[in-house]
Amino acid sequence: MFEFILYTILILFFLFYAYFFMKTLEYIYCAFVRKQPPFVPSRKKSRQAVVEQINTYYKNAKNVLEIGSGFGGLARYVAKHTDTNVIALENMPFSAGISKFLDFFSLSKKSKTIQTDAFKFLDNTDEKFDIALAYLGPKLTPLLTNYKNKINVLISLNFEIQGLKPVRVIDTKSGYVIYNRKKYPHKLFIYEF
Ligand SMILES: C[S@@+](CC[C@H](N)C(=O)[O-])C[C@H]1O[C@@H](n2cnc3c(N)ncnc32)[C@H](O)[C@@H]1O
Repeated sequence: MFEFILYTILILFFLFYAYFFMKTLEYIYCAFVRKQPPFVPSRKKSRQAVVEQINTYYKNAKNVLEIGSGFGGLARYVAKHTDTNVIALENMPFSAGISKFLDFFSLSKKSKTIQTDAFKFLDNTDEKFDIALAYLGPKLTPLLTNYKNKINVLISLNFEIQGLKPVRVIDTKSGYVIYNRKKYPHKLFIYEF
């Protein structure tokens, strides 16, 4: 019995160690090689607000694209609580791998992760998406205006597009994220293209 407990603790310790090691590598890769925001999951309140927007204003939406999906938590939440199928795009191999693993065990099989650069994916697809979700950063989010012909509605978490008027701004009143030393409150900016 003692040996069983000891081995279980050792295995758990190893898994935690491997997880934090891979996460640290991914953070360094994001920051210094890709120069893109690392994976920070969205808040539950933001996810609930996204679902509320879809179920209130875009009930007929069928296909949703998540641009930069991390572990896929937002994608699976939206797939579960709306009548949509979600394609989750993530370019970091570790995050995309975990997301695929979690997709496999998710009960609603309506969310699918693809490991790819989201912008290359959009460049090469002929599909048109009813809704795109993005929680990217102040530099990457405005680039999505180049894909107005492939996205009907953009729901951007926290980051607005300067010079483009959103149809709605939802303040989730749940704090903020700090990016490049600037505070961005947890809001949704909704654009109809
Ligand atoms: C702030 S996280 C958001 C995660 C998730 N959307 C959520 O709400 O929980 C941003 C994610 O976008 C990914 N990302 C950034 N640029 C990307 C790109 N060009 N293609 C695909 N994923 C990208 C990052 O690796 C990171 O996992």
